This record gives sequence, C-alpha cells and structure tokens, in this order.
Amino acid sequence: MGKGLLDIRLTDIRDFASGRHRKVDDRPCGGGPGMVMLPGPIAEAIAHVRREDSHVIYLSPQGKKLDAAKCRELAIHTHLVLLCGHYEGVDERVIESEIDEEISIGDFVLTSGCPAAVVLVDSVSRFIPGVIGNELGVSQDSFEEGIFDAPHYTGPDEFAGTVVPSVLKTGHHAQIASWRKQQAYNKTRMIRPDLIGDLQNGEATHDSV
Ligand SMILES: C[S@@+](CC[C@H](N)C(=O)[O-])C[C@H]1O[C@@H](n2cnc3c(N)ncnc32)[C@H](O)[C@@H]1O
Repeated sequence: MGKGLLDIRLTDIRDFASGRHRKVDDRPCGGGPGMVMLPGPIAEAIAHVRREDSHVIYLSPQGKKLDAAKCRELAIHTHLVLLCGHYEGVDERVIESEIDEEISIGDFVLTSGCPAAVVLVDSVSRFIPGVIGNELGVSQDSFEEGIFDAPHYTGPDEFAGTVVPSVLKTGHHAQIASWRKQQAYNKTRMIRPDLIGDLQNGEATHDSV
C-alpha cells in the first residue's frame, strides 16, 4: 500500500517442497477422496516467514468465525501469517505444531483458503489507523455498535419515485442521529434478530422502536 501501512507478501509452499515434482500433497492416510497437503513443506514455509511477533492463522471452515470484533483484535498484531489450505486441507499435525488460531469466514466450504485470506486482509486492514481516510466512518459501520449501519442517501432529492427522508434535510443533528439509530435498529431486528438478542444479553442496550 502506498502509505506503507500494510506490507503483504506471498509465499509459495511449493518452493519448500522436495523432489523433481515439488510435490505438496499426497493421498489421505486411511483412504478416502481427494488429497491432503503435506506437513513438511508447510512447516518449512512458515519457518521461513515467521518472526518473533508472528501470529499464525490457518484459514479453515473449522475455525472460529470471523466477525468485526475479531477483525479489530487481529489488526493489533504487527505480523500475521495466513496459511491457505487446498484440496481436502492440511495434515492435522501441522495445525497442531504451527498454528496459533484457525479462522473461518463463514459456514460454507471454499475450494481453497486464498479467497478467505483476501477477505481477512481486507476486513482487518480497515482497522489499521490510516487505512480508511475517514476513521469516523469505520466506527459508524455495521456491527460496531452491535447493529447495522443506518441507510445512506445522497443526491438527487428524488430517485425512482422516492425522495430523501425529510429529517435528513433539517440540519437538526440530534434528530438525524436518533432517526438513523432507529432505522438501523429496525433493519437489524428484521434481518438479523440474533444481533438484537446479543445486544440485549450483552452490555449495550437500545430502545425498542
Ligand atoms: C475444500 S476446503 C477443505 C475442507 C475440509 N475438508 C473440511 O471439510 O473442513 C480447502 C481449503 O479451503 C479453505 N477453506 C474452505 N472453507 C473455508 C472457510 N469457510 N473459511 C476459511 N477457509 C476455508 C481451507 O484453507 C481449506 O483447507
């Protein structure tokens, strides 16, 4: 990134494979479909990039689900190493010996960990000071207060038969803030009632509207 806030380097596990064919996978012990990534080249690749301050993550459907709180937490780390699996996944022993944490981007299965790594890098980097121009925007985004962001409007005043809600044109900041909060709460309650449940069980409370 131009400002030097983020330095992303790619490491090819195949560079740490031995033999003429630089093999990084093999058939699963005990039989079954697909191939499993060999532990040796992965361990060597991680050793090559590991620093004292590294936090090593394996992107996996079996990990803890990535959410905004986890992104904020990961943004504090000075060096993240992201292991992307392929095929049926990686030999379990390399998870046990090298990985600090397994993270999933959702309850579905991707063909490889690479798209998950892109999602993680993008969502975590938004919490690195300076990455987003308007830091206030980040704190008002969805999930920051346990609910969605409020709806946004810009010009023109009328579009597709709908006008910009009149409260947004009053210049009355308190009324606008209250209207936005109410809209955000209503949409969250309709689409993600589980988030409202979390709010009510947790520290923050919102007036029911
Ligand atoms: C086909 S998947 C392997 C799935 C594995 N056999 C299982 O069912 O748990 C191949 C790789 O994609 C990545 N992957 C798949 N789904 C993911 C998810 N939801 N979040 C993060 N990584 C994922 C992992 O790195 C995994 O090793």
